[in-house]
Amino acid sequence: MVEVTLAPCNHSLSGEIKVPGDKSISHRAIILGSLANGVTKITNFLDGEDCLRTIHAFQSMGVPITQEGSTVTIHGKGFSALEEPKEPLYFGNSGTTTRLMLGILSGLNLFTTIYGDESLTKRPMDRVVNPLREMNATIDGRNDGKLLPLSIRGKKLRGIEYTLPVKSAQVKSAVLLAGLFAEGKTTVIEKIGTRDHTENMLEAFGADITRNGLSTTVTSNNELIASDVQVPGDISSAAFFLVAGAIVPGSEITLKNVGLNETRTGIIDVLIKMGADLEIKNKRLVSGEWIGDITIRHSELNGITIDGDIIPRLIDEIPIIALLASQANGETVIKDAEELRVKETDRIAAVVDVLSTLGANIQGTEDGMIIKGKTPLKGGKVLAYHDHRIAMMSAIASLVANDHVTIDDASSISISYPSFFDHLNSLI
Ligand code: S3P
Repeated sequence: MVEVTLAPCNHSLSGEIKVPGDKSISHRAIILGSLANGVTKITNFLDGEDCLRTIHAFQSMGVPITQEGSTVTIHGKGFSALEEPKEPLYFGNSGTTTRLMLGILSGLNLFTTIYGDESLTKRPMDRVVNPLREMNATIDGRNDGKLLPLSIRGKKLRGIEYTLPVKSAQVKSAVLLAGLFAEGKTTVIEKIGTRDHTENMLEAFGADITRNGLSTTVTSNNELIASDVQVPGDISSAAFFLVAGAIVPGSEITLKNVGLNETRTGIIDVLIKMGADLEIKNKRLVSGEWIGDITIRHSELNGITIDGDIIPRLIDEIPIIALLASQANGETVIKDAEELRVKETDRIAAVVDVLSTLGANIQGTEDGMIIKGKTPLKGGKVLAYHDHRIAMMSAIASLVANDHVTIDDASSISISYPSFFDHLNSLI
């Protein structure tokens, strides 16, 4: 437990930040680099706990992976060279590692058991286990395979056509990755688009993949070819400072090299719709992903409704958007975000608890929240629920609070943004 107390900030924020690498892309780079033949060099890799779990998983299967800061080198020998891990694989807090690895482990000729921390042990795995079982996977575990720990007896899979019942890129990715080892074609159809980094990277690594709107098909029997990956800055991490710049009077912050993949930029659309003064410069394509520099300046903001197709494009940003809404005039309604109930914690309950403790006018609903602003925030002691995004939202809230904010445990921040407090202090 690392209790942190933050003093109110009585002045504007200014400066330039290079946020760390994207978490989703860092995981996928390790996964595809480890399955591929040849040397994959990853730069700007996110050196956060979740991504380190993915590295460890492949090291346990005999893949030589070395790391020097944010540069990772993988000497891949193809997926047939992967070895059976001698011990159960521990995935800590990482839902992405767990769900994506389930897709891979199901199709390799290996036996594995996997487990995680208290939070991960409560999160639903049937959303991945069900389609994988349809593909002939042998997975068993607690509660008939709905919950960790799980054991996987990998074997030859068969391709399926699967329409995603949940708006989840993790489920989509698990099925597509399993498709690499399946007989015939594996097609995933989405009703609403979710982040497409797996598809982008499969293309870059030479997989046999075809995309047609919200339908993606992978065919097996192909060898992946190593490909260097330059990881963009994580827009989900940038979001905390975008909101800080928008709500702290007089501020101007620039975030460099931020990932601008359209499946992730819902936060930018929301900021603009609420009236933020935001500018994107230097937009360019790097390793198959758009990146650019974002400058945000403080401005008057107005409440809006956030629902429907935009939700998967900002699902991880909803905690910080709730804080933003508390500093906007009028009502903000967030709907269709029931997935928040099954994140690292129940993020609807956690956000409502933290922000109402600090004096915001916020009410939880089954699938979202309603926030009425603008409300001055007060100090207080908040619980971060061992959730990195709740802890960082609380820290940003302290910037507009009129007294000290104490966060019960900020250690979870190392999951996705180990340098968060250094960056925050550099702006103050
Ligand atoms: C992720 C997808 C999202 C997101 C998570 C990372 C990914 O989860 O919340 O932080 O890398 O695929 P779901 O796909 O389950 O919504």
